[in-house]
Amino acid sequence: MKTIAIVGLGKWGKNHVRNIVRLQSEGFCDKVVICDADKKRLESIGNVNNIPNENRYDDLDKLLKTEELAGAVLAIPTAIHKKIALQVLDHCDILCEKPLAPTVEDCQEISQKAKKLNRIIQVGHLERYNPVVVTLRTFLEEESTEDKIMHITGRRVGPGPMKLDSKDLDPNYFGCGHDFMVHDIDVVNGLLGKIPKKVTATACYIEGFPYEVELFAIFEYEGFKGQNTNPILFDCRATWRAYPNLKRRKLIVQTTKDVMTLDFILQSIIMEKGLAQHSLSKTFSDYLGAYRATEVTNHYLAAGKDQEPLYLQDKDFLSCIDTRKKPLVSDLEGTDAVKCIIAAIEAAKTGKAVEIK
Ligand SMILES: NC(=O)c1ccc[n+]([C@@H]2O[C@H](COP(=O)([O-])OP(=O)(O)OC[C@H]3O[C@@H](n4cnc5c(N)ncnc54)[C@H](O)[C@@H]3O)[C@@H](O)[C@H]2O)c1
Repeated sequence: MKTIAIVGLGKWGKNHVRNIVRLQSEGFCDKVVICDADKKRLESIGNVNNIPNENRYDDLDKLLKTEELAGAVLAIPTAIHKKIALQVLDHCDILCEKPLAPTVEDCQEISQKAKKLNRIIQVGHLERYNPVVVTLRTFLEEESTEDKIMHITGRRVGPGPMKLDSKDLDPNYFGCGHDFMVHDIDVVNGLLGKIPKKVTATACYIEGFPYEVELFAIFEYEGFKGQNTNPILFDCRATWRAYPNLKRRKLIVQTTKDVMTLDFILQSIIMEKGLAQHSLSKTFSDYLGAYRATEVTNHYLAAGKDQEPLYLQDKDFLSCIDTRKKPLVSDLEGTDAVKCIIAAIEAAKTGKAVEIK
């Protein structure tokens, strides 16, 4: 019997429940149990997903005593990731939501325990499963341009966990670095196959909230051997300074031959391949014409229910439990992403470049 628990049924955990229940119906696990300390939430998410009453728990200790788990998805506040991960690892493999933990030391403690018990840890960096990221990798490989990435820009704009004009932004969630930027860093670390050497950054704060509400960082990655030995720069902005409806998640990758703009939400890629003619034209309209003739290709990936990044990620977790293979984003990659965020926040606070090791 392969039983999977989802712990934490809040804004994000409820999406895991929907996907794990779907995966159960497709035969990837046998039983789904859910847990939230908030009884009302437990009831409503249980009802929406037709989870039997006996599979609902408002107390994690009781769940762990009663059920024999194959795996657990942890979608609880970031501030308690370490505590809950250490507790649940005694019982099963885990998929812990991003960021793995608030500090590098906490991440390492979780890793050590998993290693000792031979448990799998997957971290919820779902953008790696986003079809646009998978397609971008294919383009780069097909065009043999992977070694010629010159520059990457990341832009992640959204309202954040609470209204920014209130004083009760929840400190359980840390700032937009841990919440937003960590996604783009993990994608870029994955694309380049390494972590940056250093970072400079600047941040915005609001009165009454201890963490950054906006972070702008420039990460410097070592260039590839051969033609591109110059550093590869990744400038990334993550901000919560937006109204609730304003959401933007984009990545722009410039190689020597093209510029590719990825939209994580729409699952689209726009590829620009340079001007029709390079030399300066005689008239302004010729000049504009050269720009208009720029080869632009749109790739819309027809996002459907089988392309939902969370579904693909959760499915991979259930497969890793069976095969014991290392997840695409394990605790190691999750720790790297936290390392980069901590360095960026420190760089913003000190105004100095911070090395990342
Ligand atoms: N991968 C993504 O794209 C993504 C998106 C949003 C949030 N997240 C992550 O998901 C996690 C949860 O975020 P959220 O926005 O859903 O938070 P939330 O506050 O909406 O939900 C957290 C839930 O956990 C429950 N909870 C807290 N302590 C508990 C305990 N000891 N036992 C059982 N239940 C407990 C709370 O009652 C609440 O329902 C965070 O780590 C966040 O970073 C990831």
